[in-house]
Amino acid sequence: MAGDRDLDVAFARARWAGRPKASGWEVAAATGVRGLRLLNEAGVFDRFRLTEAHPEAAEVLLRNAAGIPGATAVCADGRVPPVSSAFDYVEVDPYGSPVPFVDAALRAVRPGGVIGATATDMMVLAGAQRGAAERRYGARPVRGRLGPEGGVRILLAYLAREARARGLGVRPLVAYVRDHHVRAYVEVTEGGSPDADTVGEIHPDRWDGPDVGADGPFGPMWLGPLFDADLVRRLALPSTAAEPRATAQFLDRLREEAEVDRPFYYEGNVLAHRLAIAAPPPLAAILGALRRTGYRAARTHARPEGFRTDAPRGEVEAVVRRLAGPDQSQKARVRA
Ligand SMILES: C[S@@+](CC[C@H](N)C(=O)[O-])C[C@H]1O[C@@H](n2cnc3c(N)ncnc32)[C@H](O)[C@@H]1O
Repeated sequence: MAGDRDLDVAFARARWAGRPKASGWEVAAATGVRGLRLLNEAGVFDRFRLTEAHPEAAEVLLRNAAGIPGATAVCADGRVPPVSSAFDYVEVDPYGSPVPFVDAALRAVRPGGVIGATATDMMVLAGAQRGAAERRYGARPVRGRLGPEGGVRILLAYLAREARARGLGVRPLVAYVRDHHVRAYVEVTEGGSPDADTVGEIHPDRWDGPDVGADGPFGPMWLGPLFDADLVRRLALPSTAAEPRATAQFLDRLREEAEVDRPFYYEGNVLAHRLAIAAPPPLAAILGALRRTGYRAARTHARPEGFRTDAPRGEVEAVVRRLAGPDQSQKARVRA
């Protein structure tokens, strides 16, 4: 998770640099690496509270936080918000699902503040355990290659629904899939939720985006943007990064992708298989052809060969067929 914590620092700077110093709370801090890195490296926090319930981990946490100006470490249950709290940032990075901590996070964040939440329960969010997804997130997940992105969208829809139940709204700032987890930073807004029409179900027969499978409907999930493009443009590699190369690459990809923020992505090999074309055209050729046709297209952080586009699926398929050449397309037609 060192790369994730690099992104945390980059995010905090992009969000709060140049503003009054912010306050933070990490609900399940373990030894405190995440919250303490944020406090020490981002330069935007003047107070950071870290709670850890496990006595042995808390002992280490208290030692690690001792003497760090602004750090308050406590052995406590992170599902209970501190009295009269109004944090600019609440960090929810437990094991598994963030669900048990969402109520506390929503009660502890101030309006206009941010919740950063990690979910590592990918078996549930990405479709391997449908019953558990229904029980935990109230949603039917997407299975297969697009399952992880379905997972981040289910998590966002869950946060939006929980916020709405408390008269709040959420707006994703950065939400991504990485290794075996998903992570979302959302701004919590006061009053009526702006998300009413961005949470919905995908009905495969009415869906014109990348193929998410036939056994839907899927969701409810967040179908709006994953990124605040302005903020993503300001994400910069921290000089303190623990994984500078990987983090820089990831940030580059997010910047490209945030300009074409459409739900789900295509992959050349998946399209080639679907269209019965032997070899998928190179990604650069597909992107170039879509752009020349007047559509937007960008690579995605989620898969090396993935791309997002605002072209309808029929156009994407036509481009791939054209690039594959007449021979392959003919074979495909015969087989079809
Ligand atoms: C994945 S670790 C946290 C890692 C940390 N966020 C980081 O980035 O280094 C999860 C921690 O949550 C703690 N935990 C579990 N339930 C908790 C609760 N109700 N309140 C506070 N901490 C809890 C566990 O003891 C464990 O140390």
